[in-house]
Amino acid sequence: MRIKNLTEYNKEKEKFKISPEKFWAEKADTFTWHKKWDEILNWDFHKANINWFSGGKLNITENCLDRHLSSIGDQTAIKWIANDPNEKNIDITYIELHQKVCQFSNVLKSKGIKKGDRICLYMPMVPELAVAVLACARIGAIHSVVFAGFSAKSLSDRINDASCKALITADGGFRGSKITPLKEIANEALANSPSIDFCIVLKRTNSKIEMVKNRDFWWDEEIKKSSTNCPAESMDAEDKLFILYTSGSTGKPKGIVHSTAGYMIYAQYSFENVFQYNEGDIYWCTADIGWITGHSYIIYGPLLSGATTVMFEGVPTYPDAGRFWEIVEKNNINIFYTAPTAIRSLEAMGNDYVRKYNLNSLKVLGTVGEPINEDAWNWYFKEIGGNTAPIVDTWWQTETGGIMISNLAGINKAKATFATLPLPGIEACVVDENGEEMKKNNIEGKLCIKFPWPSIARTIYGDHQRFINTYFSAFPGKYFSGDGCYKNKDGLFRITGRVDDVLIVSGHNLGTAEIESAIDEHENVCESAIVGYPHQIKGNGVFAYVICHHKPKDEKTINTEINNLITRHVGPIAKVDKFLYVEGLPKTRSGKIMRRILRKIASKEYSNLGDTSTLLDPNVVENIILESKK
Ligand code: WT7
Repeated sequence: MRIKNLTEYNKEKEKFKISPEKFWAEKADTFTWHKKWDEILNWDFHKANINWFSGGKLNITENCLDRHLSSIGDQTAIKWIANDPNEKNIDITYIELHQKVCQFSNVLKSKGIKKGDRICLYMPMVPELAVAVLACARIGAIHSVVFAGFSAKSLSDRINDASCKALITADGGFRGSKITPLKEIANEALANSPSIDFCIVLKRTNSKIEMVKNRDFWWDEEIKKSSTNCPAESMDAEDKLFILYTSGSTGKPKGIVHSTAGYMIYAQYSFENVFQYNEGDIYWCTADIGWITGHSYIIYGPLLSGATTVMFEGVPTYPDAGRFWEIVEKNNINIFYTAPTAIRSLEAMGNDYVRKYNLNSLKVLGTVGEPINEDAWNWYFKEIGGNTAPIVDTWWQTETGGIMISNLAGINKAKATFATLPLPGIEACVVDENGEEMKKNNIEGKLCIKFPWPSIARTIYGDHQRFINTYFSAFPGKYFSGDGCYKNKDGLFRITGRVDDVLIVSGHNLGTAEIESAIDEHENVCESAIVGYPHQIKGNGVFAYVICHHKPKDEKTINTEINNLITRHVGPIAKVDKFLYVEGLPKTRSGKIMRRILRKIASKEYSNLGDTSTLLDPNVVENIILESKK
């Protein structure tokens, strides 16, 4: 049911206008159900209650796997590429993937896992990660994948928040020339995670690790004991499928919850339409499965569509900066989806790395995660896409489950730095400070969505009130994204970045509060404030303003100590790029740090700091500027 041209595109938009329910029911009809739904949609954005296809019964893995077996069973489902270019790649067909998933489902069942139990996955980018995700879904367990770059503390926080019963991990993970000691980190986390009954460990790096008797089991040994036959659990359309943590402006990370049918329908619909997936295409998304992009566009979207999805274990610069392009050539990649930060860093390495390879197989290029600057866009289009492959700039979020705003490749026109238009079925709008929709073109405001779509998050795990407060209370009746947006004279959307205290660094979503609390652990630190500043490669760099009890004797030492604390409490991705030691922070009378001012100073914009009249002590700003200019 892919939209194949502009006429069909406009027809779809028209169909949605006439009846949103019918529009989505038509998409839902193309899937395998045990029982069809009683009601298409029931929603209330004030209470943040959203139900799609209530009463329907299904299992997402039957739609990813079983229904393809008779037609494309021998086609490669997952094409796995190892970190080390000399290690053999692995192609897993749909039939084989189905068997592996069933087998691991049986392992989980034999250890007492039941529908509704939460399972944490902390794994490298190996096929077993996809297998474990799908095995959870097959038996109705809720997966919570934690990115393998997170620290022990972040891991145990996430396990505890959802009271996970099991942890699936590996001895270690290869990333470039490094090994991440996953089991060692997991052991530290498990010391503080009493809800875990058992832990399954995949052997990947052959690192020497400590296994705890009666708690830890080897993946391979367990698999050997299991049958490859496992009937799929019948799930309610609204049963939880997974939890995925994302940073917030304040407080601890939020466990975003997605449910079964709506997520499935939208992941498939958006995948096939945005990338214009054609039967037989080789598709590669370079994200990690630890992020939503990997969930929706490495695993679920492509498998639901019967595609061949590439999974890459390594990093773009190992063994050298030509690695991505070597993989594209060797594997005849047709659709390639990556992040602006990768594009910028590879552009900076020079064109020789690109021109060594034949990239003619590429038909569609995608970008996601942060705004892409015009220069990077042009380089991507010219050097990678040979001036012909259309670029899709896809705006979406962990909370939206799938791509919300993007052109469809080759159907409606791309424009550098613009995500362009909402997909058919998505009612995005831009609102002013008072929440009034700005209906005209050539305006700038905040990005909202006014009507539910099937893959909208359903809640924050264990804290529905926080879900309401974060997304549905700033502009009652609308979902608020937290992003700023400019709509040009033709009505095209450009995302201008976060308007809250979330920082997007190299496409990773970081909460300022989390980083600050890690910094504040240092014995010499009284208080700190984190802001972003423009960074050539990362998009945003992390800038820390730090107040110390005693003036640090040696700034280099304390910088390293603070970054070690951040690595331990959050993860290395959140490390500070620039430190500024100050005597005070600009605060309002109510005690809120005015980050707007700190952001300007971090970007070396000293004039035009805006209204400072509500500051408790305006002199603080003068002092910070003096320090910053030193
Ligand atoms: C935030 C969501 C969605 C998968 C990856 C990130 C920013 C995302 C774009 C884009 C400009 C973008 C937004 C958004 N963002 N895509 N194409 N152009 N900004 O998911 O970690 O939930 O982050 O990423 O600021 O709110 P996430």
